Amino acid sequence: MSSSEPHNPSPQPSPYFKRHIFFCLNERNNGEASCSQHRAQDAFDHCKRAVRAAGLNGAGGVRVNKAGCLDRCAGGPVAVVYPEGVWYTYVDVADVDEIVQSHLRDGRVVSRLELDPSVGR
Ligand code: FES
Repeated sequence: MSSSEPHNPSPQPSPYFKRHIFFCLNERNNGEASCSQHRAQDAFDHCKRAVRAAGLNGAGGVRVNKAGCLDRCAGGPVAVVYPEGVWYTYVDVADVDEIVQSHLRDGRVVSRLELDPSVGR
């Protein structure tokens, strides 16, 4: 290649996981709101099981991760899906199932569970 040819960067490798979902499992004992008060651990455990049952776990698939405070506590319990950066709030495991089947499996955002953009801590 001569120095006058444009530099073509190497193609990006496929990401190891197609999607990540992070559940805030933060627990506060000072009276302030936290996601653990809304059964976030149960939702996380359910999501792990549902992703595995759907065969979505593993390399090239979906990773379900614990997180500490994601700084959007007022909307808790919250979870966020990457690479899309979609924030969710959920009420029960049926909501989690919908996120798994629609977003994590099919790539369709569950609009009704999206966290209002103005919600913060
Ligand atoms: S405690 Fe869950 S986002 Fe802060």
